[in-house]
Amino acid sequence: MTMHWRGMLAATTVASLCAWTAAAAAPPRAPQPKAPPPEEKKEFDTPAPPFALGLFPCTACHTEPGNPQRRELGFHDEVLPLRHGPNRWCLDCHDLKDRDMLHLTDGELVPFGESYRLCGQCHGDKYRDWKVGVHGKRIGYWNGKKTYFLCVNCHNPHAPRFTGVETVVVDGVPTQRPIPEPTRPEPRPLRPQEIR
Ligand code: HEC
Ligand code: HEC
Ligand code: HEC
Ligand code: HEC
Repeated sequence: MTMHWRGMLAATTVASLCAWTAAAAAPPRAPQPKAPPPEEKKEFDTPAPPFALGLFPCTACHTEPGNPQRRELGFHDEVLPLRHGPNRWCLDCHDLKDRDMLHLTDGELVPFGESYRLCGQCHGDKYRDWKVGVHGKRIGYWNGKKTYFLCVNCHNPHAPRFTGVETVVVDGVPTQRPIPEPTRPEPRPLRPQEIR
């Protein structure tokens, strides 16, 4: 918690100082903000997002802003049907204009590598537990560095009920992803008269 808000504050301060510096144009230079300690630059050290479908970067296709209409999609069967609480729609999470980014409810863009911030907006209790290492595994190294699994290393954002995890290699990097749920029901068992 503390670390989270400190991180946010540091980021905000740096951002506003940068904007201010840019606006003030040329010398005299504004006093430089002290660089934040390295561990506060990115809040959490996480593995790569487990994109396994070969669809990233999204902007390979989505060069124009998307279609804001909630509708039947003629593409993206790989994430359909959505099974994530009532009335969820793609644009609750994905940005309409920049398809390579997620967004929070206030419109702030969030990269896929920080998707836990998106999940945390609706699952505050789990987010708090995750940050202190109670929910979700956190791997510690000998030098004290810790790596947090992203929520999406364990939960498919489109059907988040936990179904187990498997290791996959994405762009040459091993990572963990949720085991995909079968999208179709199992075929019914054969009746005795159908077995010859
Ligand atoms: C191979 C091309 C292709 C790639 C790559 C692709 N998409 Fe799409 N996407 C489409 C098409 C085509 C549609 C429109 C389907 C329709 O209108 O029926 C679509 C629609 C969508 C929509 C519905 C809202 C809208 O703007 O129409 C979302 C959300 C979306 N894509 C997200 C993504 C994300 C996130 C990625 C990257 C991880 C991605 N797409 C990568 C082709 C692609
Ligand atoms: C609850 C938030 C949420 C909703 C709703 C949602 N997505 Fe996603 N989606 C994500 C996140 C987070 C990722 C990134 C997963 C990762 O890091 O591997 C993602 C990844 C994707 C990908 C890339 C999958 C892959 O493994 O390569 C596609 C395509 C996509 N979303 C399309 C859609 C479409 C289309 C919809 C609506 C029908 C939708 N999403 C709804 C959060 C969401
Ligand atoms: C816009 C709000 C919203 C966002 C963002 C969101 N969720 Fe959810 N999520 C819900 C709702 C609503 C439910 C259903 C009620 C519940 O179980 O709390 C749900 C349910 C879940 C469940 C329980 C599923 C089950 O069937 O047991 C998991 C796990 C989950 N979400 C994970 C995530 C993850 C991971 C992310 C980020 C990629 C995320 N959620 C983002 C609203 C959201
Ligand atoms: C290392 C894997 C792992 C990570 C990382 C992880 N979870 Fe989970 N999560 C689980 C498992 C396993 C369960 C199922 C527990 C059970 O069924 O008792 C679960 C359950 C949940 C549930 C449903 C709980 C309920 O009471 O119904 C939600 C919501 C959830 N996780 C959200 C998140 C969010 C948000 C994040 C990231 C901040 C996250 N999880 C990170 C493994 C993980």
